[in-house]
Amino acid sequence: MVRRRTAKDIAARKSGEPIVCLTAYITPMAARLDDYCDLLLVGDSLGMVLYGMDNTLGVTLDMMIQHGRAVMRGAKKALVVIDMPFGSYEESKEQAFRNCAKVLSETGAGAVKLEGGIEMAETIAFLVKRGIPVLGHVGLMPQSVNSYGGYGAHGRTENEWQPILDDAQAIAAAGAFATVLEGVAAPLADKITEKTSNPIIGIGASNKCDGQILVTEDMLGLFSFNPKFVKRYMELGTEIVASVEAYASEVRARTFPSDEYTYKMKD
Ligand code: KIV
Ligand code: NA
Repeated sequence: MVRRRTAKDIAARKSGEPIVCLTAYITPMAARLDDYCDLLLVGDSLGMVLYGMDNTLGVTLDMMIQHGRAVMRGAKKALVVIDMPFGSYEESKEQAFRNCAKVLSETGAGAVKLEGGIEMAETIAFLVKRGIPVLGHVGLMPQSVNSYGGYGAHGRTENEWQPILDDAQAIAAAGAFATVLEGVAAPLADKITEKTSNPIIGIGASNKCDGQILVTEDMLGLFSFNPKFVKRYMELGTEIVASVEAYASEVRARTFPSDEYTYKMKD
């Protein structure tokens, strides 16, 4: 049996070999990503990508648990991290512990992720000291879309830098084993990577970060959200449409199912 990667393994990769991460929500995708990724994130982006929600705020703890279990069934080597959804951890460190413990015990995943900087540092320290590995998330935080007012990049003028660097350093000091840094100007990402003690995993950040993550459906071309930082490695949406078009026309022409796809009588 292969030993599954742990939060500790990821933490040891500061300034080392880049950490390869992607999101996964379902078993068959997780199984295919597992050989190539150090970490698979069950992101609350699933609310938008799988369920068509306008933002991530409506995602529930139960959705995260069900998809977390699905990913754990498909991935055997990567560290699986589950996103804590909006409203499940912000109220108090006790609420956070209760819900994070439920997520880890019901999914078997190895860590949780939560959004927030200085304001979440005390909660992160509380969780880490009690056996819950935490992946941080600073910079653009999609659960704060209503107060920030959109998904624009952060830190594109130097006067915005200090609070974001302070956030990253506060949660590193609190014990986050690594931190996702989303949607920031590349020079700020470089500076944060240099000035934090834990690995920084970039998305819309910089290739000098200690690792990278993308939403899998984005990089496969299966989701219409297309910010600057998404490189589309294929156009899966286009390929699906072409396949469905072929199926529909074969059904109408009665050429599917051909003999090859039907059962013969026994002798
Ligand atoms: O929900 C998600 O997929 C994420 C990643 C984009 C980091 O938080
Ligand atoms: Na997320």
